[in-house]
Amino acid sequence: MARVVITRPLPGAPEELLRSAGHRTTVRDGVMPPSPDELRTLAADAEGLLCLLTERVDAELLDACPSIRAISNMAVGTDNIDLEECRRRGIAVGNTPGVLTEATADLTFALLLACARRIIEAEAAVRTGEWRTWEPGGWLGADVGGATLLIVGAGAIGTAVARRAEGFGMHVLTAGRDDELLPLLREADFVSLHTPLTEATRGMIGSTELAGMKQTAYLINTARGDLVDQDALREALELKLIAGAGLDVTTPEPLPPDHPLLGAPNLVVLPHIGSASTSARVAMAQLAAGNLIAALAGDAMPNGVVDPAA
Ligand code: GLV
Repeated sequence: MARVVITRPLPGAPEELLRSAGHRTTVRDGVMPPSPDELRTLAADAEGLLCLLTERVDAELLDACPSIRAISNMAVGTDNIDLEECRRRGIAVGNTPGVLTEATADLTFALLLACARRIIEAEAAVRTGEWRTWEPGGWLGADVGGATLLIVGAGAIGTAVARRAEGFGMHVLTAGRDDELLPLLREADFVSLHTPLTEATRGMIGSTELAGMKQTAYLINTARGDLVDQDALREALELKLIAGAGLDVTTPEPLPPDHPLLGAPNLVVLPHIGSASTSARVAMAQLAAGNLIAALAGDAMPNGVVDPAA
């Protein structure tokens, strides 16, 4: 029996799985994430930690919580966790891939369509009374069918987006780790990011890349905010170097309402809801619990990112 801390109430009550496996499980209450201080206190004697992408797991936290042997992140991305530090300390780390693939690909496509067909501003116009009559030249957007979509990072989510794009009659290009991005960016009408955030990918879309895109092209990011240099993006939108951007992720999250990026034109921003379908979130929470149950029993996590036994 181990002590497990879950940093917030989760869909599907995965604490029941942990309790059924015999673990003393505490679910911290509240909508907001714990501060680093609070998390250090909360997990001071925990052996298992089920955390979210809003929590930073670094050497300082691990120093304060010396009993931790297993960490499960309810997310596919693990950039909030210092994996190297966990590896050094023999702590197992897991994530929740697969179950959010389709939901995130759907949201990516929703953003792409919202940008292309100006759905957010058009809907607002109906509500404010700005829309007066059917206008032959009103709310003109970009075609999706026949357009070229560049998928940067063709892993599970990128591939699921490509499937949708093919259904819409788009021409799909993909860029992997070793591909030179600029020549591909020049070809694309839509660019969608699906790569993990690492030191190699941080800021991969900066002023050079944005200037290399077509002036009629859109950037879609449902991966991590730090993949994009946001100052460069604001400038590109203001100078109309690109046609628009759809972001489900930003740095920080949320952006303060007076953040300069929010003042840029042709921008759709969502509150990081890529995986937010009920079934995806329940499945993620259950996978996250399953990772901890396995690791605390001395087994490999079903979805391990750092496996000390290997
Ligand atoms: C969400 O962004 C995730 O990494 O699961």
